Amino acid sequence: PRKIWLTRHGESQFNTMGKIGGNSSLSKRGQMYAELLPDILASRVPKTADGQTYPMAVWTSTLQRTIITASGLPYPKVQWKALDEIQAGTCDGMTYEEVAEVMPGEFAERRKDKLRYRYPSGESYMDVIQRLEPVVTEAEREKECVCIVSHQAVLRALYGYFMNQPLESVPRIDIPLHTLMELTPRADGTMAEVRFIVD
Ligand code: F6P
Repeated sequence: PRKIWLTRHGESQFNTMGKIGGNSSLSKRGQMYAELLPDILASRVPKTADGQTYPMAVWTSTLQRTIITASGLPYPKVQWKALDEIQAGTCDGMTYEEVAEVMPGEFAERRKDKLRYRYPSGESYMDVIQRLEPVVTEAEREKECVCIVSHQAVLRALYGYFMNQPLESVPRIDIPLHTLMELTPRADGTMAEVRFIVD
């Protein structure tokens, strides 16, 4: 059967500093993940009934950490702006500690309602869920297998959708780095999941 893979980009420079947002490149560890990903994925691509391997597509965001992570994958690629990480607006480039110190009100608001909280000049999880609609429609229409290389908040939204998770739980779904999530549609419309941890 056809499969959908979800993965975050390899660890970024900003990840190592605990900074949110930005458009940083990969750390050494992140680069390692990017180098291991092609073989892991190749070993998982299913065969069609006539013994051919399934046609594949790779979707990334427009941020360099996903583009670099996908760079070794030998399949056609599409960059989607809709797959870019949640926009943190005026908090972009800060650590959570800095946000708590400089904008304690914002920090508290987000903690209270992470799903609906919108960053000043930025986005909420609800905004992200909404902008992902065309991605989801396209993913469900595709005949090919699709590997989506994106970001923590975006993948929470996509995973929540594909795995039928309650909306309120979406902003806290565990989507670790260096983990390839493989989703396989079942006959009853639900998805089977396997995770490959590459650390
Ligand atoms: O820290 C990595 C990151 O992708 C940030 O760029 C983003 O703001 C954050 O995760 C989203 O996670 P959370 O909604 O838990 O802050």
